[in-house]
Amino acid sequence: MNILLLGSGGREHAIAWKIAQSPKVDKLFIAPGNAGTALVGTNVDIKADDFAAIKDFVLANQVNMVVVGPEDPLVKGVYDYFKKDEALSSIPVIGPSGEGAQLEGSKDFAKAFMMRHNIPTARYKSISVENLEEGYAFLESLSAPYVLKADGLAAGKGVLIIDNLEEAKKELGDMLGGMFGDASKTVVIEEFLDGIECSVFVLTDGNDYKVLPVAKDYKRIGEGNTGLNTGGMGAVSPVPFADEVFMAKVDERIIRPTVEGLKAEHIDYKGFIFLGLINVKNEPMVIEYNCRMGDPETEVVMLRIQSDLVDLLEGVAEGNLAGRTLVQDPRAAVTVMLVSGGYPEAYEKNKVITGLDGVSSNNIVFHAGTKLVDGQILTNGGRVIAVSSYGATKEEALAQSFAGAKQIDFDKKYFRRDIGFDL
Ligand code: AMP
Ligand code: GLY
Repeated sequence: MNILLLGSGGREHAIAWKIAQSPKVDKLFIAPGNAGTALVGTNVDIKADDFAAIKDFVLANQVNMVVVGPEDPLVKGVYDYFKKDEALSSIPVIGPSGEGAQLEGSKDFAKAFMMRHNIPTARYKSISVENLEEGYAFLESLSAPYVLKADGLAAGKGVLIIDNLEEAKKELGDMLGGMFGDASKTVVIEEFLDGIECSVFVLTDGNDYKVLPVAKDYKRIGEGNTGLNTGGMGAVSPVPFADEVFMAKVDERIIRPTVEGLKAEHIDYKGFIFLGLINVKNEPMVIEYNCRMGDPETEVVMLRIQSDLVDLLEGVAEGNLAGRTLVQDPRAAVTVMLVSGGYPEAYEKNKVITGLDGVSSNNIVFHAGTKLVDGQILTNGGRVIAVSSYGATKEEALAQSFAGAKQIDFDKKYFRRDIGFDL
């Protein structure tokens, strides 16, 4: 079969790497892809949310399945676009409907969904300019720190955690006043939860589901989890505290009610569900839903799926996922992200990347923000390269990834040397 994968980051290179290993695949296309995805498939110069161009390409190239990497096309309704189009409706899109994608696209929608289905999450109140006074009162009822979240998509920057009540009230006003544009016209105020986070990924066909390997990502730019939030500086899998007892709670209290809740509400959801969880004294609670895989978690999760991913995706498309097998690799997998100096603030692009040919065969190198220009691979983003590795233990895997992270070079390269330190 021929598969078109949408997206251009490290997550997409990792998914493409895994798809390309499947004997079921004839051609793999990635739109728009990066210099890394070009090594395992064919890049197509189409933006991931240009639905009309995607349609033309799919029909001209006998594409049999579309796999969606990022949230943006999903929230914009790529699934529904295919469903409603006579020529496209028989081609499965792996990813939820626009309505299902609201689990990520609207924090208010996600919180109300969790309330309806008794899924454990932080207490909250949704505030707009109309009920601002209620927002102040709710903040006064909480203790510090205060969590303010823009309702809509804000490129991962829409969450503020504030120590001081007066400042929280001021920031609430600023958010409603357009700090994140339309995304913060509604703000979700949440009780702060204290614990350690992990990322749980579920693949569902709308009825049944498979739980993929659990991962933990490292979001802050600085060592010891300090400094600004980034898209993610590294990840490890498995996560020791996500043991059998913890995961049984996650399954019973969170995953099953989520899948059954979507079904009961007739929300079309055939794809990945990303549960951002926090472990509060051994009790799992939901911090957020995403309607896609995580980045850089995918750069370790794909290493730990032994089964054929395309077989599982076929199960999603055909609604018979229950009959497919998911075998996890018992080894540890880690990834270390190389980023451009200055990221997540201003940084430069177009630096020549060297040393890629010299990495050991123990490293699996995924490109995040790269491009190929006149035979040279250049930096093309804040997050540039994810160096993934296997090991018998996470320490062993990390030693491999750090060796690769030193070997690959570009001007002003930075990476965290403490990935996995808190586990
Ligand atoms: P989100 O975009 O919802 O994942 O939020 C970004 C980050 O903010 C999360 O990964 C958490 O580290 C933190 N966060 C969000 N909500 C809460 C909360 N209720 N309590 C504590 N930390 C939170
Ligand atoms: N690593 C977190 C995310 O993909 O949103």
